[in-house]
Amino acid sequence: MRTPIIAGNWKMNKNPQETQDFLDSIKGKLPDPSQVESVIAAPAIDLNALVWFSKDEPLKTAAENCYFEDEGAFTGETSPKALSEMGLNYVVIGHSERRDYFHETDEDINKKAKAIFKNNMLPIICCGESLETREAGKEVEWVVGQIKAALNGLTADQVSKSVIAYEPIWAIGTGKTASADQAQEMCHEIREAVKNLYDEQTAENVRIQYGGSVKPANVEELMSKEDIDGGLVGGASMDPESFLQLVNYKN
Ligand code: 13P
Repeated sequence: MRTPIIAGNWKMNKNPQETQDFLDSIKGKLPDPSQVESVIAAPAIDLNALVWFSKDEPLKTAAENCYFEDEGAFTGETSPKALSEMGLNYVVIGHSERRDYFHETDEDINKKAKAIFKNNMLPIICCGESLETREAGKEVEWVVGQIKAALNGLTADQVSKSVIAYEPIWAIGTGKTASADQAQEMCHEIREAVKNLYDEQTAENVRIQYGGSVKPANVEELMSKEDIDGGLVGGASMDPESFLQLVNYKN
């Protein structure tokens, strides 16, 4: 059985004080982690507060990015080794904003996935097509290609523990959600791809999130779909009440 995983992705929002205020508001209100895993991915400057909070509360912590080298002369980058030593659980990699604005390639994302495992954390690997690709009917081929590239060289055990986030670019921050059926269809295709690349058990284990205008009003329907194991949520994760409604969608 896959444990549902709802992750907020704050993107480049909130300073350390705002982060602390948010955490104060959700204290004692997160679901039992055996029912739903609650995760927040925050800017690097806010991670310290998240890690401290997670010592007493059922919150898993995520960085929004890292570099693939452990240390060295890479000005402005964040070390996966340091994130791990700090106590982070996950790192989001391959978000479409990083691919588009910062020119990250499939190869970079694969190197980052390996660096994350080497440092005993888990990747949340993002994939997703543009509207143009969907309109050309090439969305499955595109997304499966991204997944194959990201997982290249990872073991079945590593893939079993990974989280994959399907985020169609046309649904991010636009208020335009993929329908639950569209989201399910692609998440199913991703699971099939993992089965073909690895085996049935690995495909059964890997958790697949949907992201793109997820909010309290649509989370339940999305989560009712067989191959959707969670959500990666931008806008609706930044208000504590809304975040609590998302992670407590079962109640
Ligand atoms: P929104 O939920 O704001 O559409 O963002 C989705 C996303 O990019 C999460 O990573």
